[in-house]
Amino acid sequence: MTITIDSSLTDPRIIVALDFDSAKTALALADRLEPGQCRLKVGKELFTCAGPALVEDLQARGFDVFLDLKFHDIPNTVAKACRAAADLGVWMVNVHTLGGRRMMEAAREAVDAASYNPLLIGVTILTSMGVDDLREVGLSGSPEHNVLRLACLAEASGLDGVVCSPREVSVLRDTVGHAFRLVTPGVRPADSISDDQKRVTTPEDAIANGSHYLVVGRPITRAEDPVAALRAINAVILPRL
Ligand code: C5P
Repeated sequence: MTITIDSSLTDPRIIVALDFDSAKTALALADRLEPGQCRLKVGKELFTCAGPALVEDLQARGFDVFLDLKFHDIPNTVAKACRAAADLGVWMVNVHTLGGRRMMEAAREAVDAASYNPLLIGVTILTSMGVDDLREVGLSGSPEHNVLRLACLAEASGLDGVVCSPREVSVLRDTVGHAFRLVTPGVRPADSISDDQKRVTTPEDAIANGSHYLVVGRPITRAEDPVAALRAINAVILPRL
């Protein structure tokens, strides 16, 4: 079956992770992609190298930007950082849920007071952490147990969603409200290598299980034809939306 993709999706579900070390490389890829097909993620490396000017350049090309800086600090500092991100006009920004309820509530207030209101997302437990890592920092229980607990705290603190592993989506989907966004990295098309991601899920399974947005890096950024790679992922998830 051939699925035709509109040149512009109303709510593109793929967020392409621009994990590059220069604005030039990031913009070269952005210029090959279409804002109607994907959003773009700017993380710590690229933002540290290229700063707000790059975010503005991407937005000027029509892209929604997820500013993935995982703010984690005292409530006042995080609130001001979130306000700065909102003033920059980003579509999504994130904080670390381990900063606690007061920090997340302060972030919520700051974003609500801005003239533009990005989606405010919480990072729960980093997927790189296992049971032993958690115990070492004083957290008992499994990563999954802690993700669920922190996602509920994020929802109660007014956040719009969380970043989580695609393997945790099903249980979270049954626990949090329908509108609470689940943003999942660790996605690999069936014919793709998993790189350093250990617990991967295909894009179609992630969407079928309840992910709203899929963060995809190397399967698109390192593809011989990034446009075709993005198109192929959109084609497999569209029937499941
Ligand atoms: O290249 P790949 O698809 O593995 O990139 C995944 C992206 O998602 C990277 O930008 C990575 O930093 C991010 N990420 C992740 N796991 C998390 C949180 C974010 O892989 N738990």
